[in-house]
Amino acid sequence: MDSPVSIIIPTKNEGGNLEEIFLRIKKALENFCDYEIILADSSNDETRKFMEEVIKEFGKEHKIKAMVLDCNGDDLSNAIIQSLNYGTYDIVAIMDGDLQHPPEMLPEMLKILEKQNADIVIGSRITKNFSIVRTIVSGVYRSLVYLFVKNSTKIRDPGSGFFVFRKKILENVSLKPLGFKILVEILDKAHYEKVIEKRFIFEDRKSGTSKFNLNQSYISFIHLFHIAKHNKEYDRFLKFSIVGASGIIINMGCLYILTEFFKIFYLFSSAIAIELSIISNFILNDIWTFKNERNGNFFVRMGKFNLSRIFASVINVFILFMLTIIGINYLLANLIGIFVATLFTYVTSVLWVWKR
Ligand code: GDD
Ligand code: MN
Repeated sequence: MDSPVSIIIPTKNEGGNLEEIFLRIKKALENFCDYEIILADSSNDETRKFMEEVIKEFGKEHKIKAMVLDCNGDDLSNAIIQSLNYGTYDIVAIMDGDLQHPPEMLPEMLKILEKQNADIVIGSRITKNFSIVRTIVSGVYRSLVYLFVKNSTKIRDPGSGFFVFRKKILENVSLKPLGFKILVEILDKAHYEKVIEKRFIFEDRKSGTSKFNLNQSYISFIHLFHIAKHNKEYDRFLKFSIVGASGIIINMGCLYILTEFFKIFYLFSSAIAIELSIISNFILNDIWTFKNERNGNFFVRMGKFNLSRIFASVINVFILFMLTIIGINYLLANLIGIFVATLFTYVTSVLWVWKR
């Protein structure tokens, strides 16, 4: 293996992990490739001084090339972006400074990058000790990434902070991330083709504490919202909602006309009105919302959309039923049902009916 790698490690008060991470990187890479370590540091305690000392003494003793960058006040992603300018090699590795990302994975990931000619290799986490809340938040986040970030649906862990990539994929790309999820920003904006994942066990922290909290989760969602606005996925959702609203008008109008003028029993009218609104929604989405994603047969798409709508109605009624059981007013319960059903239809539309 010859291509050297710049390893960027964002750190905030990780003094306790520094020597071990240096030694483990050295052991993993010394017979594998050249490397340099850049610590993107936003510590607000004594760590910075300590790091500089470690780099000087310990680094010299073990022949480890490292530097520490002052990223005071920068969040994790922005600290990483700053450091990119200091890396001198064409291949970059990003990993946390708390040993939750094992340095022993690096050779394997770098090998995959080169041998399989990939642009990005992601270390995707197998998490054992996430709390229930973090598991749920992380699941919702991932679903939204699939919706809003191009080409992301095949990626198991787009929220990982452990990955290696070719720096050239960022040429002429302006990254404006927020918070922790720099990989999502890169997946959305960079020029790449092949992404490969390699699983690893996300170990517990050795020392120090996690800086990820509810506020950070909130920031990741805001970041995703910025991405969606920027890459027009947000417009698509808006179009989809407008079409949905037009469907309500068609549904109500048909129900009224069929019942009043054609004297059809109102429940039958309703069934016809529902189907007509599904068809009109489908056609409008097909020629407007998803006009660039029309693959395959028109009627197959229509069939899929119909199925998804019918399933969504079942979800709607189910939620209505469950929520009224626990004492929520049926109108409010229905509104929540409609919301979830709409989201469901949107997800199936993007990922199935009008699959990119
Ligand atoms: N420069 C800088 N600035 N570094 C930071 C900041 C910051 O504001 N906040 C955290 N870090 C550093 C930490 O010191 C650590 O090395 C790394 O970023 C990850 O932070 P943790 O606090 O350990 O987060 P986690 O373990 O809960 O990890 C989550 O986010 C990571 C982001 O890289 C997981 O989703 C990881 O998979 C993910 O890699
Ligand atoms: Mn961590």
